[in-house]
Amino acid sequence: MPDPENRLLEIDALHVRYKKIHAVDGASMNVEPGECVALVGESGCGKTSLCRAVLGLERISAGRVLFAGSSLNEFDAGDWKKYRNRVQMIFQDPGESLNPRLTAGGMLSEVLKVRRGLPAPARQAETERLLQTVGLDPALAGRYPHELSGGQKQRLGIARALAVNPDLIIADEPVSALDVSVQVQILNLLLDIQTARGLALLLIAHDLAVVRYMCRRVYVMNRGQIVESGMAARIFSRPQHPFTRALLDAVPDVDRCRG
Ligand SMILES: Nc1ncnc2c1ncn2[C@@H]1O[C@H](COP(=O)(O)OP(=O)(O)O)[C@@H](O)[C@H]1O
Ligand SMILES: [Mg+2]
Repeated sequence: MPDPENRLLEIDALHVRYKKIHAVDGASMNVEPGECVALVGESGCGKTSLCRAVLGLERISAGRVLFAGSSLNEFDAGDWKKYRNRVQMIFQDPGESLNPRLTAGGMLSEVLKVRRGLPAPARQAETERLLQTVGLDPALAGRYPHELSGGQKQRLGIARALAVNPDLIIADEPVSALDVSVQVQILNLLLDIQTARGLALLLIAHDLAVVRYMCRRVYVMNRGQIVESGMAARIFSRPQHPFTRALLDAVPDVDRCRG
């Protein structure tokens, strides 16, 4: 059993309600330091609402989210500030989450200034390093988001997340808006970074094929609830819940044979 003391993120009976919609309905899950965990479920099942509540972007209607043992419900302004450097999100639509008025380099430099208080010369060097880390040519620093491809924009989104040296990255369907040919590259990049830096990754996906090769543990969500969870290998070999089996049946055979 994982040691509860060792939990980086603990979501405890979380509810997120919009006016009439109960988007997250008592979901519990946890992520340990350095672990890659998947949250999988069909479109509309509440995945993004859960992420947004964890980030403090959506109100927690009931339940708790604990980070390193402290409840978000009890955070003061200083706690939020620290938390926003420890947890970062990568969004589904890389274009929408980037400021169209800032160049790639300008945006990273801004984050390094505001969040890490780095002086200008250090920001320049760190910006280049970040671009290289995510596989972008530092010559692209002068480009605006609309001058970048979808894959490049998502790489930039990853660089922005890394700029604050987070302990946890939540990636909300980070490749579903990208061309298939680019999807694998971005997933591999995320996996490489997660491994190299030993940071925790909560990967949201609606596709089980993707998470099979990346994540240690999997949570399966349906209608705002976690219906099954376990080690990825077990979920794939012996799914318990009918909903998980249905998700697995939707995975193309070619992917199922590969493992
Ligand atoms: N801001 C919002 N206001 C009202 N309903 C919302 C809002 N965001 C999401 N929903 C609804 O909550 C449910 C869960 O949505 P979401 O969390 O986006 O699911 P997923 O990310 O799994 O596709 C859906 O029925 C969706 O229409
Ligand atoms: Mg979503």
